[in-house]
Amino acid sequence: MTAKVFTKLLGLFILLLAFFTVAMEFVLHRLVEQAPAAALRLSGREALWTGLLALAFALILAAWVAVRVSRRLRLVVDFAQRIAEGDLSARLAGGGADELTAMEAALNQTAERLGQSFAEIESRRQELAAMLDSMQEAVVAITPEGLVRWSNAVMQRITGAPIHLGRPLVHSVRDPEVLACVQVALRQGEVRFGRANSLAPGRIFEINAVPLPSGGALVVLHDVTRIEAAEKSRRDFIANVSHELRTPLTSIQGYVETLIEDPDPNPETTREFLGIILKNATRMNRLTEDLIALASVESPDYKLSLQPTRASALIHDAIESLGGIVVDSKVKLESAGAPDALVMADADAMNQVFGNLIENALKYGKAGKRIRVGARLLDGEVEFTVQDFGPGIASEHLTRIFERFYRIDKARSRESGGTGLGLAIVKHIVQAHGGSIRAESELGAGAQFHFTLPLMPATPPAS
Ligand SMILES: Nc1ncnc2c1ncn2[C@@H]1O[C@H](COP(=O)(O)OP(=O)(O)OP(=O)(O)O)[C@@H](O)[C@H]1O
Ligand SMILES: [Mg+2]
Repeated sequence: MTAKVFTKLLGLFILLLAFFTVAMEFVLHRLVEQAPAAALRLSGREALWTGLLALAFALILAAWVAVRVSRRLRLVVDFAQRIAEGDLSARLAGGGADELTAMEAALNQTAERLGQSFAEIESRRQELAAMLDSMQEAVVAITPEGLVRWSNAVMQRITGAPIHLGRPLVHSVRDPEVLACVQVALRQGEVRFGRANSLAPGRIFEINAVPLPSGGALVVLHDVTRIEAAEKSRRDFIANVSHELRTPLTSIQGYVETLIEDPDPNPETTREFLGIILKNATRMNRLTEDLIALASVESPDYKLSLQPTRASALIHDAIESLGGIVVDSKVKLESAGAPDALVMADADAMNQVFGNLIENALKYGKAGKRIRVGARLLDGEVEFTVQDFGPGIASEHLTRIFERFYRIDKARSRESGGTGLGLAIVKHIVQAHGGSIRAESELGAGAQFHFTLPLMPATPPAS
């Protein structure tokens, strides 16, 4: 390119000089013809030498100018190459007042603006990537050919493996529903919703595949595992409540109908039937009371009246107030000792907690003939324990018994009037105090229920 320019410039100069020399020859010749030789003192030979000298000078001048222009053009070519390769810091030296200098300045300015635009685009890209990475949803961009163009960090966390950029989505994601939604968005250009169950173990994602205006598609995956679990829990709860209410209601209805239809009722049978009706009505009443209690402790408005209370006093009160329920059962309710440490507790709520735990120990651990209630001081909290020596609880039930309506032996629990809500209520009350509850058991050796209450915060000494 530069060699061509150089050659062209040189040729132009030679042509100009040749023309100049011929013109000089012609003018001198005319002068010689018109003026006497002596007056001019110039011979044709001298004129020729003068012309040749001028030609040589012009040649050197042309070569010098051509070399300079060529060198600057070569720099322009190098500059353009660096820009094309992405080096936007490249600049031309400039300096001068000719057209080339103006061109160099314009090119420098273009490179400068390009650099600024790229820096701005890069900073926006980084900002967008950070925003997409901080999202709760997983996002994947797909090219029109179905290759992964980009994905955010959440996507990698979900799949637990790297997402292969530039490769088909199926290399990184195997869930058939996700792949099907992407295909519809890519091929038919339609927004597609779906549900992915096999993307990550135990998790459910809502899929939203959207076609992009420039071709390709964007897939957004929203984790709905918790929403689904809450929804399932709500459905299960309604089903459980309906079932628990229906059983005694059906029984009441059956006995009442029999009594109404009997034209000659036997007083003894009537009494027996009325007894069953009363038992079922009591059971329904208990269930509704427990449901109200559960709704109250689960409500965000549930407020406790926390007072500094000695752990030993709580144990003493529990044994005093609940001693009555073991009176007829030949079961001994005893204290296992407790520290005098002050805990923050709501007296009524604690009565509910001990009431349920001791009642359970009596109902399910009666065979052990002993119930021990005690407390011990731990780091920053006091751990209370209600222990029985009955048949105990198998390990697979130990965490589940705190769920609403969970009963190990439904028939037995129902028989003893249990609704399966007691431990769920207890758990909420303990948690509302800032404590926690757990069950320990060895089959055949009884069960222990441990719950903690935080110690009263130390009051700063009066100044
Ligand atoms: N001390 C225990 N020993 C053995 N099993 C127990 C003991 N305490 C609780 N369980 C089991 O845990 C289940 C749930 O107890 P929870 O107190 O929540 O319900 P419930 O006693 O059946 O009914 P509710 O307390 O609402 O009247 C019980 O049905 C029982 O199977
Ligand atoms: Mg109970």
